[in-house]
Amino acid sequence: MQDLDRIRAEALAAVAAATTPEQLDAARVAALGKKGTISGLMKNLGAMDPEARKAAGAAMNAVRDEVAAALDGAKAVLDAKALEQRLSRERIDVTLPARPESLGRIHPISQTIEEITAIFAQMGFTVAEGPDIEDDFHNFTALNIPPEHPARQMHDTFYFGERVEGGRHLLRTHTSPVQIRTMLSDKPPIRVLVPGRTYRCDSDMTHTPMFHQVEGLVIDEATNMSHLKGCLIEFVRAFFEVDDVPVRFRPSFFPFTEPSAEVDIGCSREGGELKIGPGAGWLEILGCGMVHPNVLRNCGIDPDRYQGFAFGMGVERVAMLKYGIPDLRTFFDSDLRWLKHYGFVPLDVPTLSGGLTR
Ligand code: PHE
Repeated sequence: MQDLDRIRAEALAAVAAATTPEQLDAARVAALGKKGTISGLMKNLGAMDPEARKAAGAAMNAVRDEVAAALDGAKAVLDAKALEQRLSRERIDVTLPARPESLGRIHPISQTIEEITAIFAQMGFTVAEGPDIEDDFHNFTALNIPPEHPARQMHDTFYFGERVEGGRHLLRTHTSPVQIRTMLSDKPPIRVLVPGRTYRCDSDMTHTPMFHQVEGLVIDEATNMSHLKGCLIEFVRAFFEVDDVPVRFRPSFFPFTEPSAEVDIGCSREGGELKIGPGAGWLEILGCGMVHPNVLRNCGIDPDRYQGFAFGMGVERVAMLKYGIPDLRTFFDSDLRWLKHYGFVPLDVPTLSGGLTR
C-alpha cells in the first residue's frame, strides 16, 4: 500500500509538472503504459490471496482512474493553451484595407462599357447581345439597307466566303443588327442596351479593324423624339460627369432611322488641353434617330401602332474623350505599362450612387 501511495503521488506530480503534450504523454506512459508503475503493481495481484487481492485491486483501480482523470484534465488545459497561442500567432487585422493592386487592372473599354450600362440600367434598359458573325439580312437588309444600296459601301465590310446555299456571312459592321434580333424575338415595349464588338476593314490613326459600340433601342406606343433627346442628354451629363455640358442634335442620315441625328457635345481647347463642357468646340459622339417604319415592318411590328428610337455610339471614342487617351490604337496594344496607367482597379465597380469614376 505504501508503494501505491508513492506511485500515485509520483504519477500525479508528473502530470502536474508536464508543460507540453510530449511531457504529458511521457507521464501517461510512465504510469499507465504497459510497463508503467501502476500497470506494474497490478501484475502483482495474481500472487495475492483472494481477500487481499480484492482490497488491493479496488485501491489500484481507484488510483488508476484518478491518474487517468488527472491526465485528461491536464490535456484539456494544454490543448486550450495551444489553441490560444495559435490564435494569437495567426491573428490578422480584418479592418486593414484590401490591396487591389495585386488583382491586375480593368481595361478602359470594359470600364467604359460598365459605366454606360450603369447609366442606362438606371433608366430601365436591360442588356442584350448578338453574334459578331452576322448575315446580310440582320446587318443590312432588315435595317432598310437593301442590296446595291450605297450605304453598304460606307461600311467597309469583312465578308466570309460564299456559302453553298448562297449568300455570305460577314463580321457585323455595327451593333444595329441586334435591334433586328431583339424586335424579332421580343414584343414591345422594348428597352435594350447592346454593348459589343464591331468590325470594319479600316486601319489608320483613328480607325481600328475591330472596335466597340453600344446600341440602344426603345420601342413602345408613345415614345417620341423628345424622349430620345432627354434620354441622351441625361446620359451625356451622367457619363462625362459635367452638368452643364452643351449637347447638340445635328440632322444626319441613317437608312434605319427617320429622322436621324448625330449628337455633338461641347468642348474647349485651352492651352492645348481638351475639356468637355461649355466652349467653342464640338465633338461628335453618337448617331441616333427614330426607328424607320420599314425596319419595324421588317420585324413584324406595326408602325401605325408602335414607334421608338435607336442610338449607337463608339465606346473607344467616348472613352478617349472622358479619360484623355490620345491614341486609339493603344487600346489594342496589350501594353502592360499603358494598362497600369489607364486601367482601373477591379474593386472600383462603377455605380451611379457610388460615383462612376473615382
Ligand atoms: N449603326 C450606326 C453606325 O454604326 C449608328 C446608329 C445606331 C445610328 C442607331 C442610328 C441609330 O454608325
